[in-house]
Amino acid sequence: MKKLSLKNISAIISISFCIIFAISIIYGCKASQKVSMKTGAQLWAENCQRCHNTPSPSSFSPEQWETIGLHMQTRALLTDTEREKIVEFLKQ
Ligand code: HEC
Repeated sequence: MKKLSLKNISAIISISFCIIFAISIIYGCKASQKVSMKTGAQLWAENCQRCHNTPSPSSFSPEQWETIGLHMQTRALLTDTEREKIVEFLKQ
């Protein structure tokens, strides 16, 4: 029976790291693409009703939505792009 040498083992380990790294890059890009393709309305529906009922766009003035967006961005853990899209939608 052939024993795996240390060289072989380290080659296997570095190849698996390369594969994991490649997969994470591919999936990472896919995930961010998905978010960037979402509309403000979609992001609003998905993120803003986790903690309370979704306030309708007409409940607040455009200026109020700007402030609320900044306030809720920290609560909902949104990126700047996501917040901008949601606030754009709510101001309409
Ligand atoms: C992690 C939980 C959480 C998420 C997610 C969240 N909110 Fe809130 N929201 C709160 C809490 C708690 C309050 C009340 C306290 C406060 O204003 O900080 C609140 C208050 C509000 C108010 C004020 C309601 C009123 O009648 O004065 C608005 C408007 C609002 N949120 C909009 C949003 C929008 C839009 C989103 C999506 C971007 C969102 N929230 C996401 C927790 C959340």
